[in-house]
Amino acid sequence: MSPNLLNVFRSRRSIKEYSPKKVSNEVLFRILEASRWAPSAHNAQPWRFIVIQDSALKQKLAKAMASRWHRDMSKNGVSKEQRESLIKASVERFENAPIIIIACLTMENMDEYPDHRRKRIEYVMAVQSVAAAIENILLAAYGEGLGSCWFCAPLFCQDVVRKIMKIPQHVDPQALITLGYPANRPNPPSRKPLEEIVHQNRWRHTA
Ligand SMILES: Cc1cc2nc3c(=O)[nH]c(=O)nc-3n(C[C@H](O)[C@H](O)[C@H](O)COP(=O)(O)O)c2cc1C
Repeated sequence: MSPNLLNVFRSRRSIKEYSPKKVSNEVLFRILEASRWAPSAHNAQPWRFIVIQDSALKQKLAKAMASRWHRDMSKNGVSKEQRESLIKASVERFENAPIIIIACLTMENMDEYPDHRRKRIEYVMAVQSVAAAIENILLAAYGEGLGSCWFCAPLFCQDVVRKIMKIPQHVDPQALITLGYPANRPNPPSRKPLEEIVHQNRWRHTA
């Protein structure tokens, strides 16, 4: 692997604040094009994407997701004050992102099985494939000088996202990606050392 490519992997960061600079359609096209070339189980390409640039729609989605989050947080004892502050930050973050992409999953071209075990495995394969496409988007965005962040919020309110974005029942929202020119460059969060995550030949048990 070219050392430059390794540097790309090392220096991409999750960016949550963006400058208002507009992202051109050509740049957006190249980022979306990168998603198509991710590997996928059976080459089924189970990813689907909704690109949102309309401010009113971004706001509607952000507020609806936040409202569900607010409800969920009240179930696990987060104080009202803290809930309000988290919700406000979340809505602002999504509203202020120049582009939002909702990454979805469809089982349309995946294999069908009669039993629960293999159905579940097939679903996991689709999730892994969508994740690979998302990573292509993040790296392509970085290559274009943009920042991006992967948010899991839609997983916690799939029905809410489905309703607002008019997503059919057989398509599952998986993630929300924000995109835009970065307003800042965060320091890299730490990574586990290779010795901790890689096992040579067999699992090495530590005390
Ligand atoms: C599946 C997944 C879900 C994530 N969800 C969130 C999220 O909900 N909120 C958030 O701020 N970052 C989220 N992130 C971004 C991670 O926090 C981030 O990638 C990690 O802290 C490492 O930072 P880096 O991307 O700058 O290297 C998510 C990343 C992944 C892969």
